[in-house]
Amino acid sequence: MEKTLALVKPDAYSAGHLEEIKKRIEADGFKIVQEKEVKGTKSQMEEFYQEHKGRPFFEGLTTWMSSSPFYAMILEKKEAIKSWRTLMGPTNSEKAREEAPNSIRAVFGTDGSKNATHGSDSLESATREISIIFG
Ligand code: RTP
Ligand code: MG
Repeated sequence: MEKTLALVKPDAYSAGHLEEIKKRIEADGFKIVQEKEVKGTKSQMEEFYQEHKGRPFFEGLTTWMSSSPFYAMILEKKEAIKSWRTLMGPTNSEKAREEAPNSIRAVFGTDGSKNATHGSDSLESATREISIIFG
């Protein structure tokens, strides 16, 4: 069984969409193996998003992710990484509404950066990100 890290980001979490998002996760056959609310620090979020350091959205993204709590879950399923990214839909919420209107980002996301959820993109990222968030 593969594990991935899912975050319900501050936009969707503060809007109260956690339970609806968890319902979709469970309906898709994932097991939630660990979960908790997290108030990330700026330096923790900079480490988390280190691959994007230097990109124009890095400062805004890491400031936003450390500005209010988010909700973290370790999800387990066969091919969990790919499956969770499919359920989330495209990165940009507006593109998601056009291309995958039933996806989580289409339904709960705001725009290209405030996009409701995060999902690891590889086995290596999943291991690294789970250790940053869950220790
Ligand atoms: P994620 O890592 O959050 O699961 O999303 P992703 O792989 O689909 O997107 P990625 O390219 O890794 O970008 C990480 C997060 O940065 C924000 N972003 N903003 N304004 C922009 O152009 C822009 N591009 C990316 C999003 O919050 C994205 O999820
Ligand atoms: Mg990514």
